[in-house]
Amino acid sequence: MLHEQEKRRNAGEVDLCLSFMKSVCGEQCLCPNRLSLNLAGLKLGNPTMLASGILGYSSETLESIVQGGAGAVVTKSVGLKPREGFANPTIVQASCGLINAMGLPNPGIDEFTKEISHAKTVLNVPLIVSVYGYSGEEYGILARKAVDAGADAVELNVSCPHVKETGSEIGQSSRILTEVVREAKVMVNKPVIVKLSPNVTSVADLAEVAEKAGADALTAINTVKAMAIDTETTMPILSNRVGGLSGPAVKPIAVRCVYEIFERVKIPIIGCGGIANWHDAVEFLLAGASAVQIGTAIALKGPSVFRTVARGVDAYLRRHGFDSVGQIVGLAHKS
Ligand code: DHB
Repeated sequence: MLHEQEKRRNAGEVDLCLSFMKSVCGEQCLCPNRLSLNLAGLKLGNPTMLASGILGYSSETLESIVQGGAGAVVTKSVGLKPREGFANPTIVQASCGLINAMGLPNPGIDEFTKEISHAKTVLNVPLIVSVYGYSGEEYGILARKAVDAGADAVELNVSCPHVKETGSEIGQSSRILTEVVREAKVMVNKPVIVKLSPNVTSVADLAEVAEKAGADALTAINTVKAMAIDTETTMPILSNRVGGLSGPAVKPIAVRCVYEIFERVKIPIIGCGGIANWHDAVEFLLAGASAVQIGTAIALKGPSVFRTVARGVDAYLRRHGFDSVGQIVGLAHKS
């Protein structure tokens, strides 16, 4: 029980805080207390994050995303060696999203660590490095190199739908997934996030496997395996033939995955898949996500989509009388 005097002091502090915030950014300000969260030890000012894969590797691009309001950023996936990726076309527009098969192009971890170190000096939000490998040992080495360079956490890409011997070929097997997560965990003392594939029989089973192996958080979901065919040439459009579908088309699949995973694990879930506005974000939070990643929507709306979504979530919380974003996580399970 708080003493009356203390309650009055707290109320005074809140008023002071609000008038300060209003003077800084007007009536529409984001109250940092309502939106801030601790995600597996990472401190986020708001629950929006840049999804891996959508943007390049430069710290300038990551900076523009932070200026757009993101609470954390995840880099493109990086492997041990440089990789060219697939030939064009690597991306095709579908009715309600994009199908891409870039082929994990990246400069290799040793080149990338320079960019991580620089990014760390200019970003004021958690920097999460996404890594992909071909064995548990490789994931472990990559995680260590990323953290040594300054990453605040690593996200294991065990869910790319179309590159052979990595990605979902790892994340679909309980045995290999366990090995990969364990290796990463022994190599780093920062949070290890596992990005799950929807292209499996039971995403909740694999979520549980990742949790048991030591994962600190899960991202659900990566892209859905898909393809498009050119009716004139009669041929698949992507050079790789199949790719990963992202954007609004996958949102209901992703919400279902988050909902199912929430029933099975205790570690936080980061929702990902088709989030373009505050309403989408709230849907994911209610399903059980503690934060959300945004990717494809940046192509249409630009980096400011993060601030717009965060402000919308904040207004939703205020309208419904919640003091913190954590209060609505998983609410759909209680009704
Ligand atoms: C690629 C990687 C992914 O993890 C994904 O979901 C889609 C595409 C790629 O680099 O090809």
